[in-house]
Amino acid sequence: MEYRVKRAPRIDTEITLPGDKSISHRAAIIAALSNGVCVVRGFLPSEDCMHTVNALRAFGVNIEQPEPTMLIVHGNRRLLKAPAAPINCGNSATTMRLLAGLLAPQPFESRLVGDAALSRRPMDRVIAPLQQMGANIVGEGPNQTAPLRIKGTPLKGIQYSLPIASAQVKSALLLAGLFAKGKTTLNEPAITRNHTELMLNYFLVRTVNEEDGGVTIFGDQVPESRDFAIPGDISSAAFWLVAAAAQPGGHLLVRDTGLNNTRTAVLGVLVRMGAQVREAVEDVDQLEPRGAVEVTGAPLKGTVIQGREIPQLVDELPVLAVAGALASGTTIIRHAEELRVKETDRIAAIAHNLRAMGTQVVELNDGLEIHGRPSLRAARVASFGDHRIAMAFAIAGLHADGETVIQNVECVRESYPGFEEALEEFINPKRMQPSTPVIGSLSPARLAEE
Ligand code: S3P
Repeated sequence: MEYRVKRAPRIDTEITLPGDKSISHRAAIIAALSNGVCVVRGFLPSEDCMHTVNALRAFGVNIEQPEPTMLIVHGNRRLLKAPAAPINCGNSATTMRLLAGLLAPQPFESRLVGDAALSRRPMDRVIAPLQQMGANIVGEGPNQTAPLRIKGTPLKGIQYSLPIASAQVKSALLLAGLFAKGKTTLNEPAITRNHTELMLNYFLVRTVNEEDGGVTIFGDQVPESRDFAIPGDISSAAFWLVAAAAQPGGHLLVRDTGLNNTRTAVLGVLVRMGAQVREAVEDVDQLEPRGAVEVTGAPLKGTVIQGREIPQLVDELPVLAVAGALASGTTIIRHAEELRVKETDRIAAIAHNLRAMGTQVVELNDGLEIHGRPSLRAARVASFGDHRIAMAFAIAGLHADGETVIQNVECVRESYPGFEEALEEFINPKRMQPSTPVIGSLSPARLAEE
């Protein structure tokens, strides 16, 4: 399957998004551990999240899905049963890493397998701290990669400083800590998304935010069953936000998106690049802030994205690189070596595809130096089997002369079912609703921390 993309006419529309991917994984897992029935709405029925749901079903949790975006999870009071077969995590590192933490303390043996791409990704980052907690877990592949074999055993709480800023690792250890004896305290080198902490708290599991920025969880707590509504995924919004931001006069309103401030650094970058961005938090009742974002496009200028900002927009870097390619001057992305171990080596993939579209790019070990121009040259580009590369270059195609073809886009199903239909609306806006007038209460997006 491929996308054929041409230059977008004037953008003036509003969109709603599929549910947040990170929150969908966590909602399914924590509801499954709870002491009763939880109705989860706004669930993202993407391949990645369905791997997590199917794994939980294999552990004996009854999860109904009366509609694609609705789960009725019958929590098992933390009592899971041994799966009959290895758990297939597909291409979902979130599934594999979070489940590693969940399974390490269970009284049974399990095996987590992934596809070829996931089997190349680092798992030692989760194996090593789990072993410190007493886990019996090994990566059967080279250098501790998947498949993971886990012989469940009682764990003890530890104090651990994560060497890499990774919400997946932090979340795996919080889940393990929920079952461990005593308390588990985690420190991260830079703030990462805090959805696991917020969702545990929403399900009345106590955690403590330490003064030095660390987080502590106490073992032996059972999440209280509750209903939960998942907001739209700001990482999915980012594709359309960049599409509009890079079109002078373009205008987009995104409704009901997650606005957790560990995820919104992308908005600050777009402001620095010259776009007008406003956000309004409309609801924090379920602890996850949600609301609207509005962007008005402008001639963009280059910026520097680095340091502590990186973990807060790590998934948005491919499309921000496209924004950089459309901006005047140079955009520099540094300290983003984690991009090399995502679904593909995203630094190499971005550099390759941007060059194919006529952009001068210098590949750095830990990032990119992009020399922007106001328009791109249409090209045939590869997805590299990576959903975010496929979608980022579809957005590039909206700003290119001629027809851009993105090959092998099946991977987009991992995170964004419905992307193709939304893309079609941008290319051919016949069916587009004109956007509602600007919301008066939207406040300017705060500048992200440099
Ligand atoms: C995620 C954390 C990030 C992110 C991924 C989802 C999560 O990965 O890139 O798409 O849901 O915790 P890392 O933990 O590897 O940084």
